[in-house]
Order: sequence, then structure tokens, then C-alpha cells
Amino acid sequence: MTALLEARGLRLAFGGVRAADGIDLDVMQGEFLAIIGPNGAGKTTFINMATGYLRPQAGSIAYEGRPITGLSPRAIVRRGIARSFQLPQLFTEHTVLENAALAVAAREGIWSPLAPLLRPRWREEAAALLGSFGLAALADIRADALNEGARKLADIAMAVALRPRLLLMDEPTSGVAAAEKMGIVETLVRVLREARVTAVFVEHDMEVVERFADRVAVWSQGRIAALGPPARVLADPAVQREVIGIEKAGAPPVPAAGEGGHA
Ligand SMILES: Nc1ncnc2c1ncn2[C@@H]1O[C@H](COP(=O)(O)OP(=O)(O)O)[C@@H](O)[C@H]1O
Ligand SMILES: [Mg+2]
Repeated sequence: MTALLEARGLRLAFGGVRAADGIDLDVMQGEFLAIIGPNGAGKTTFINMATGYLRPQAGSIAYEGRPITGLSPRAIVRRGIARSFQLPQLFTEHTVLENAALAVAAREGIWSPLAPLLRPRWREEAAALLGSFGLAALADIRADALNEGARKLADIAMAVALRPRLLLMDEPTSGVAAAEKMGIVETLVRVLREARVTAVFVEHDMEVVERFADRVAVWSQGRIAALGPPARVLADPAVQREVIGIEKAGAPPVPAAGEGGHA
């Protein structure tokens, strides 16, 4: 297996807080890599650095063997990396179809809220994409009328419309009702596997991690404390004590600072 993304020695401090304190990570071609860890561990900061929303103060990131450190979010999207947000960044006054068509247009370099109204081809591709996510019935509903599960899927559909080879998802299941959660993850795993997209996702539900991740990385105070197959990592007493114990105690994920909008 070859590494698609290679992060080396990433450091970023906010005042005295070391949000990234020496992150070394290879994301392998084709894998689903889960990131777990308590709130404030630096999970979102890593995604922000890998997608151009934050610039590391030290270290480097390479994608497909070429440096991307310090590139803008749009330049990184053009290289083939997309992301979704903990709080979905949809255009609330537009329909789900229009949102998806906007993302298709953005892939072709047109970043305008009016774009989807102009080209039937974009709307057709958007409709097909929504179909693959099981969202066809919601295509004409305004984005602000969606429940959290559908909103998360719509946000991820927009990221997939950019045709990434690597997708980073920040808490794709947070805020989603327990009854809906597995169905949503199954849908997005199916779509991403079909499209051969490598995925990194921040996740608080250990059942989701165990079922869907090839590997799991445990974040702790800006560092990677453990990395490996879920069966081994989640059974590690230190991980259970420091991460899973906290998760079970149910500290709800708080919206992270430093999240921006879609590029
Ligand atoms: N843009 C920012 N400005 C200041 N502090 C930040 C910013 N982004 C993150 N932090 C801080 O960095 C630490 C790591 O945050 P974050 O990466 O959001 O953690 P996680 O996603 O694991 O909950 C936290 O202490 C957070 O408050
Ligand atoms: Mg976060």
C-alpha cells in the first residue's frame, strides 16, 4: 500500500495551547482511517491543516508525493482533497439539489450561488449524486428544513461532488439521532467505496469505529497516542481509560474553533 497523505512533524500552537504537537501520520491509499480522542485533543486542527484552513507553524504535508503545506483550501480541493464539517456548511435558503449543483459547479471553477440555476447539466449530475446518497426524495426541500442526519449526508454529498480522492470528515455522525446513525454511515461508506475515495473521519461512536474503520488513530493533546486496527487499539487499557472512558461519560462534542466555510 502507498501513502496518499503524509504528515510529518506538524506543529501548531494557539497561545499556550499546543493543538498540534508533532503529528506524523500516513494515510494509506484506499483506507478508512478513524480519528478518536477527547474534545480539545487537536482532531479538527489536523483536518484544518490538511485542507488548508490552518497553516502549520512547523512540519510538512504531502499529498500524492507532492507538498501541499500552506496551500489555500481551493488549491487543495483542486489537488483532490475535500472535507466535510462538524457543522454542515449548506446554503440554507437553497434546496438540497441546488446545494449539490453548487458543489458540482464549484468543481468546474464556478463559485457562485446562482450557478446551479444556469446549467441543467450541473443539476442532472447533482440529482444523480443525491440519488446515490439516498437523498433523492429530499432534493427539492430547502436545506434548512433537513434533519441533522440528512444535513450531514447532504454536506458530504457536496464534498463528493468535488470528486476528491481523499475526503476528511469532521464528526460525520455527531448530532445524528442514534436510530439513524448506522444507516447514515453505511450509506456514506458505500458511496465512498464505490467512488474509491480514501477517507479520514473524526468519530466519537466506538461502534462506528469498530465496524467501519480499517485503522484508528488516537489523538491526545496534539499528539497521536496510538495507531492501528480498531480491534487492537480499542482494547488497549490506556486508550479505554483516557479516551473511551471519556466518550462513555458522554461529554458532548462542542463546535470547534477554527472551522471555516466551504472553500
Ligand atoms: N482557531 C483557533 N484559535 C484558538 N484556539 C484554537 C483554534 N482552533 C483550535 N484551538 C484550540 O486548540 C485545541 C485543539 O482544538 P481542536 O483541534 O478543535 O480539538 P478537537 O477537534 O480534538 O476537539 C483546543 O484547545 C482549541 O481550543
Ligand atoms: Mg473537533
